[in-house]
Amino acid sequence: MKEKDIFDLEKRHIWHPCSQMSDYEEYPATHIVKGNGVWLHTSDGRKILDAISSWWVNLFGHCNKFISKKIKRQLENLEHVIFANYTHTPAIILGKRLSSLFDDKLPKVFYADNGSSAIEVAIKMSYHYWYNNNKKEKNLFGYITGAYHGETIGALSVGDLTLYKKSYSPLLIKTLPLPGPDCFRCSYGKTRDNCNAECFEKTKENMDKNKDNLSAIIIEPIVQCANGMSIYPPIFLKKIRDYTEKNDIHLICDEIASGFGRTGKMMASHHANIIPDFVTVSKGLTGGFLPLSAVLTKEKIYSAFYGTYVEQKAFLHSHSYTGNPLACSAACAVFEIFEKNNILEMINKKGKIIYEKVLDLLDYKYVGEIRTKGMITAIELVKDKKNKISFDWKERIGYKIYREAERNGVLLRNLGDVIYFMPPYIINEKEINFMIKVAKDAIFKILNSI
Ligand SMILES: Cc1ncc(COP(=O)(O)O)c(C=O)c1O
Repeated sequence: MKEKDIFDLEKRHIWHPCSQMSDYEEYPATHIVKGNGVWLHTSDGRKILDAISSWWVNLFGHCNKFISKKIKRQLENLEHVIFANYTHTPAIILGKRLSSLFDDKLPKVFYADNGSSAIEVAIKMSYHYWYNNNKKEKNLFGYITGAYHGETIGALSVGDLTLYKKSYSPLLIKTLPLPGPDCFRCSYGKTRDNCNAECFEKTKENMDKNKDNLSAIIIEPIVQCANGMSIYPPIFLKKIRDYTEKNDIHLICDEIASGFGRTGKMMASHHANIIPDFVTVSKGLTGGFLPLSAVLTKEKIYSAFYGTYVEQKAFLHSHSYTGNPLACSAACAVFEIFEKNNILEMINKKGKIIYEKVLDLLDYKYVGEIRTKGMITAIELVKDKKNKISFDWKERIGYKIYREAERNGVLLRNLGDVIYFMPPYIINEKEINFMIKVAKDAIFKILNSI
């Protein structure tokens, strides 16, 4: 089919995610025909470096040969089977590996097929646990300011990004917003290195008032990715864990974006050395190949659902593609790559290189902060550096930088006025240099013209 015909069809039929479709009049969707390592190849012969791992899913490069091989092998045997009353080896082996992430202290694994669905599962399981224990009043979910946990109704309810949420407010479930860390604009005048999570006191005040009704607190450990890669110290997470444990409230750690090495440890919760009651994983779980998610939980939670059929205690939740064998085999391949190579060391080394190469931007009058953790480096752009005042969101500074960088071969999809690097772990130094040069040029070009 001719490129023009493809574009006519695209325009006629496709409604893209998280997009104002009128933007596509000026910038039609870039047509990708091939992926290879950190590179995406377009239908008009350009190469674009995927600096955000295609929404944080890709770990070891596009079309990674090892993962592809494992999926192909699985494809020859079993593509899919209903997961109620049936099982298969990739799901079982993956269950064992997932459980090992938390030293077998979260041995029960429930599969779903995307991040938001995993959040729904964790929310429902938490409430249902209290329901089965005759504590139906525990029906409130606490979330941290700036949180993002996905777009389905339950997941949206425990998120805090107004832009995504406000139109749906009458549809949402009962939640409790909890003030959380804002380390860039810390109201205690502390830095991430010297604080004792003083801000936790405010979080605690809100929890104290609602303790008996709280089913769970949900949190993104160490980094709130959608909130402009907002990074906070492990001590805050540790305090939340101690509080929830003491007060009979579940802790759901949403590792959907932060898991599988992104923050320099296998799971971001490991920075605080905690065992949550529920952990949700997705995105990097399959190395960015196939949709899959999982909720890990404790034996104690599982036991509350265990009984005879007539007791009606079971967790009757399902998705058609739960535990898809192809996706599970991709995820097993991801674990194998971690097991056979020192990936975490590589992540921390490369993450430091990226961070050091952008540090000179701190001298620029529009750069408010540069923050990093593992393989994440984020640059927050502000209009007034001294007072940390943001640009008017209607100016779409970050978006203009993203468009400019794309024209020059780097995919940098901005988060408001935060430009960040979260590339596949296999990026090499030459590619890092290219990514950073294009990003800096775009930042200067757009901001010097305002
Ligand atoms: C922390 C976190 N939780 C949940 C989700 C939702 O995952 P999905 O987009 O697969 O529904 C995301 C997606 O960005 C996320 O970053």
